[in-house]
Amino acid sequence: MRTGNWIPPDVDTNTPSIARIYDYWLGGGHNFEIDRATADKLEGNMAGVRQSVRLNRAFLARAVRYMASQGVKQFIDIGSGIPTVGNVHEIAQQVNPEARVVYVEREPVAVAHSDLLLAGDEQSAMVHADMRDVEGVLGSPQVRRLIDFDEPVGLLFLLMLHWLEDSDDPAGLVRAYQEPLVPGSMMAVSHLTDDARREHITEMTGMMVEHRAGEPIPRSHDEIVALFGELELVEPGLVGCGNWRPAGPGDVTEDSQWNQYLYAGVARKP
Ligand SMILES: C[S@@+](CC[C@H](N)C(=O)[O-])C[C@H]1O[C@@H](n2cnc3c(N)ncnc32)[C@H](O)[C@@H]1O
Repeated sequence: MRTGNWIPPDVDTNTPSIARIYDYWLGGGHNFEIDRATADKLEGNMAGVRQSVRLNRAFLARAVRYMASQGVKQFIDIGSGIPTVGNVHEIAQQVNPEARVVYVEREPVAVAHSDLLLAGDEQSAMVHADMRDVEGVLGSPQVRRLIDFDEPVGLLFLLMLHWLEDSDDPAGLVRAYQEPLVPGSMMAVSHLTDDARREHITEMTGMMVEHRAGEPIPRSHDEIVALFGELELVEPGLVGCGNWRPAGPGDVTEDSQWNQYLYAGVARKP
């Protein structure tokens, strides 16, 4: 097995992690044998999944550029995953070199690798936390240092809220993150849905549970729109990930199936 200071000493290398499986599907190198084996097994029944995770990363870039173009200079990226090409601080700082970013993640490899990447970066930081601890996240030294709640904030929940069960009250958690934000703040969401081909999605989530890769909760268009709360969706609303303001060939896919599995949208606080 590869070693390096991105592997925290207490990390469990025998249990797959969705952050590391996702990193593998994106072509990253911060994953273990168990993640790769699980990802390959899942992919057997999820043809095109690599395309879908790339579609999601392309949406991330467009959403951050859009928010930055609307004057958002500070971002909180919740469930940020393992850093890969095109991280939020890199994209935001291309638009505004002064942009500041706080990442929030509970997976230790993602945290360790983010800490390495961000070492010496005064404008970005990582909070190691479960996002359900809203007070802990918003009260963390990193958020207090980098986020000015008198200015608009961009909140990102990309492929993240479907890891919350209904009993976690995802709408209530999102509301708690939105609550301290001033008007003009924005929020981006991408989320698994089973509106199209429910049986296939049920089969896929069943496989993920079987392989101990977590259990994503697909939600309907209406349920995901409701997660935006009081915020107002900007055009074109909540749509298939690749259909949210595509700007180039890498933003869309020939395989429309995967586009139907992930909804994406951006909203503004009035
Ligand atoms: C599929 S990845 C998405 C990464 C990134 N947001 C993106 O869209 O490219 C989902 C991430 O959410 C993280 N996550 C899931 N539940 C979480 C929670 N309750 N608190 C913090 N992070 C969480 C996982 O560890 C994983 O890295």
